[in-house]
Amino acid sequence: MADHWIENHKRDTWRRQAKASGYRARSAFKLKQIQERFKLIDKGDVILDVGCFPGGWTQVALELVGEEGDVVGVDLEPCQPIEGAVLLVGDITDPHTQDKVLAYLNGRQLNSIISDISPNITGKWDMDQAIAMTLVTEVFDFALPFLCKGGHFVTKLFQGVGVEELINAVRPHFEDVRRHSPHASRNSSSEVYLICRRYQPWAVADVNISDTYELELNKKLSGEDIEEGPEIIKSSFSVRKKKTE
Ligand SMILES: C[S@@+](CC[C@H](N)C(=O)[O-])C[C@H]1O[C@@H](n2cnc3c(N)ncnc32)[C@H](O)[C@@H]1O
Repeated sequence: MADHWIENHKRDTWRRQAKASGYRARSAFKLKQIQERFKLIDKGDVILDVGCFPGGWTQVALELVGEEGDVVGVDLEPCQPIEGAVLLVGDITDPHTQDKVLAYLNGRQLNSIISDISPNITGKWDMDQAIAMTLVTEVFDFALPFLCKGGHFVTKLFQGVGVEELINAVRPHFEDVRRHSPHASRNSSSEVYLICRRYQPWAVADVNISDTYELELNKKLSGEDIEEGPEIIKSSFSVRKKKTE
């Protein structure tokens, strides 16, 4: 009960701060703290903000890229306009939405992809977590080919099955991949951010994070990496049906 009260209190503190600073969501502070720690976004950068509604991360990204930069946000929910940003409505996994993003970029590469995406929560934790992981792999597959050499990728994850497998799947593509929990999200025990720095497009020819992830996960879940069992020796043992009277 006491822990619950402290969590709510912290959450309210960030919410109040967000309101006072003009940010649309307290999540704005998570990106600010990630930026303070990792210095990912520079003036003039082109940024894709995935799952941008209501726009807190977009606001912070705009401040960081300045007037010469560009921020394009995508969400299932329509956002109120934010001056200086392009906000698209649609499902990031839908090819139509992806085409809209690419049309806007018009051949320009992304300096960073920032994704705070979280699917609708059904309340069944295992299922929600699994759906969230798959969604993240799909965002990687779509956006990674448009990330510039040396670019960065930040994404929210929910702790649970598959996190290690996802990290293993993306690690070869970046110089540095690590988990990070900004202060503003420490009250949400399950949430963590994956900070992937300095994209190395030359390191792996084929970008297919979803397939690599699924393969690794299936291996783990089916226990393929468990040592093979002993050879089965033929036996003359058999089960006979008991004769009925
Ligand atoms: C935690 S909110 C993002 C908050 C945002 N970063 C901010 O600071 O205002 C997560 C968002 O992900 C969006 N989302 C979930 N699935 C999506 C999908 N397939 N395509 C686009 N957006 C999605 C949800 O609509 C939701 O608005």
